[in-house]
Amino acid sequence: MKAIRLLEYGGQLVFNDVPTPTIARDEILVKIKNTTVNHVDLVKASGAVRQILPIDLPWIPGHEFSGIVEQIGGDVAAYAPGDAVFGASGGTYAEYLAVKPAAIVRKPSNLSFEEAASVPVAAETAWQGLFTHGHLEKGQTILIHGGAGAVGAYAVQLASHAGATVIATASGDDEAYLNSIGASRVIDYRKAQFEKVLQEKVDVVFDVIGGDTQARSFLVLKEGGHLISASQPVSPEESAKHHVSGAMMRLEPSGDGLGKIARLLEQGTIRPDVATVYALQDVAQAWKDIAGNLPGVHGMSPSGPRAATRRSHGKIVLRVA
Ligand SMILES: NC(=O)c1ccc[n+]([C@@H]2O[C@H](COP(=O)([O-])OP(=O)(O)OC[C@H]3O[C@@H](n4cnc5c(N)ncnc54)[C@H](OP(=O)(O)O)[C@@H]3O)[C@@H](O)[C@H]2O)c1
Repeated sequence: MKAIRLLEYGGQLVFNDVPTPTIARDEILVKIKNTTVNHVDLVKASGAVRQILPIDLPWIPGHEFSGIVEQIGGDVAAYAPGDAVFGASGGTYAEYLAVKPAAIVRKPSNLSFEEAASVPVAAETAWQGLFTHGHLEKGQTILIHGGAGAVGAYAVQLASHAGATVIATASGDDEAYLNSIGASRVIDYRKAQFEKVLQEKVDVVFDVIGGDTQARSFLVLKEGGHLISASQPVSPEESAKHHVSGAMMRLEPSGDGLGKIARLLEQGTIRPDVATVYALQDVAQAWKDIAGNLPGVHGMSPSGPRAATRRSHGKIVLRVA
């Protein structure tokens, strides 16, 4: 099969032939239709986090997919060849993937394969950040940093659907978009300091930005509140000082969790967003497109100043077949 591989840390991505995976009795072979670009692909490829998130070289990047069941192992009863599925798994920049049934979910019929591939990492990260770690409940108020990004937009939709009041930080241009998906208030991070303009304190902060944004978030949390970050560790000293709980989360992909998200997508309660679609062999350009968010990673220079280009919302998707 054809696949994209990284042969050495910081090296070029190569597109060539590799052996097609064989499946065990309890596995499924999926013919991948679409996969996506996640920040973590670039970060892992750079070698910057090799102590925490090691990879085996040569490495096939990619963390989520949509596709068609091609073959099932003898012990698999839940799926049949031809089923349309999606899920989170490593090694998805390839034509085929071997997965356990528990890792995949049937594709919602109202989503295209491109849309379905864009869902698992961002939506599950938002779900686990809000509910598993942030313990968000109906009637509470949440501040979501980076609300217009891939993860943030799911956080806004899921929190709003759960009956929370949603305040989001984002670029001012994204205000109408964020209001349309459930934010009741948007603070333009380029013009205002959220801790200066917020009148009320919040129950939960969900942070995908980190740095100074995370540090200032302690000032707007109620005592007993939760500061959950998807981007960097949260200071235990600051958490104790402000009488809040603080934690960095790491996505734990779960077929059960994705199944709940699939039902909300099928009902039209939440919606996916696809920013751009590239062919798999053009992934190097796709990686350059998001390298501006991660200067210095993978030896890339940003593709341009962030403020100069208005980005579409949602994920960059790769077309495999
Ligand atoms: N821990 C985990 O398991 C996990 C899982 C998934 C993702 N992540 C991490 O989560 C982060 C976000 O991922 P993503 O896919 O959502 O990224 P994304 O689509 O690039 O979104 C980032 C958003 O943040 C906005 N932003 C930038 N600086 C900001 C600031 N100071 N205040 C408020 N908003 C700001 C950007 O807006 P502009 O473009 O307008 O500046 C953009 O809309 C990444 O670091 C990723 O690695 C972690």
